[in-house]
Amino acid sequence: MTATSRVLVTRRLPSKVVARLEARHEVDRHDGESLPAEELRAHVRDKQAIVCVLTDRIDGAVIDAAPELKIVANVAVGYDNVDVAHAKRRGVIVTNTPDVLTNAVAEYTWGLILAIARRVTEGDRLIRRGGWKGFAFDFMLGTELHGKQLGILGMGRIGRAVAARAPAFGMSVVYHRGSTPEARPVSFDELLVTSDVISIHTLLTPETRHLIDQRALARMKRSAYLINTSRGPVVDEEALAWGLRERLIAGAALDVFEREPEVHANLLDLDNVVLAPHLGSATRETRTAMADLAVSNVLAVLDGGQPLTPV
Ligand code: GLV
Repeated sequence: MTATSRVLVTRRLPSKVVARLEARHEVDRHDGESLPAEELRAHVRDKQAIVCVLTDRIDGAVIDAAPELKIVANVAVGYDNVDVAHAKRRGVIVTNTPDVLTNAVAEYTWGLILAIARRVTEGDRLIRRGGWKGFAFDFMLGTELHGKQLGILGMGRIGRAVAARAPAFGMSVVYHRGSTPEARPVSFDELLVTSDVISIHTLLTPETRHLIDQRALARMKRSAYLINTSRGPVVDEEALAWGLRERLIAGAALDVFEREPEVHANLLDLDNVVLAPHLGSATRETRTAMADLAVSNVLAVLDGGQPLTPV
């Protein structure tokens, strides 16, 4: 058995999962809000491992504040909150939690597609404010998905899982970025111009920041819906609010935002947008599996082995 190490866990995770760490190592559990940068640097000073979530900014200063650090285990599939290049330079391993959340995010994405196309949350709001006057034949009509085209921006694991469910709704699929033998790759412009629903599943990188901007929105069909369950900054929120208000596109459903938990004020009073508080992977099963995978990565690395899911 290897020596005991010191591990920081920055957020409340399922106790059963953290117990696996506590059985072997000394764990500094922080169960409250995100640690402010200065406190985070203070907490990591004597740590060999950090288990963190996407709201923890693990930048160069945090990594440098931890001279003994061996691994940063991000409990998320996205890892734009970690300075991976700096970690590599310092010989620190970074891991994420792919695969275990794929189905949860794909299911949630379809929930959002249906919610915006069939005006589910809009109808709920109407009833709650006493605005429903009874059944009417031409009231609150939505859009049928059957026979329409789904455009996937970022055909990775989650994009493929979303695409795999499209035949159940009678939708065809095209994609841009990534790969799959099961759908047609198209240019970014063709995806924008021809898709009825566009769902974003890319990582946030300098190339994908504001990929959906005013120009891209203007290329989309006026009847199209935009769905984002990836990272907020992939969409220029201000441009989107403008596009929705001007009816450049029919609607949007967003699970992620540019400055979470802030949501651009111009989106808040629009009826043609579904707003969700970053819940894509939020099922009991998946969140437990994510934490479990992060802990397995830490245990493997602290034992001198290979991480299961390095980025
Ligand atoms: C959630 O957003 C994740 O990246 O896992």
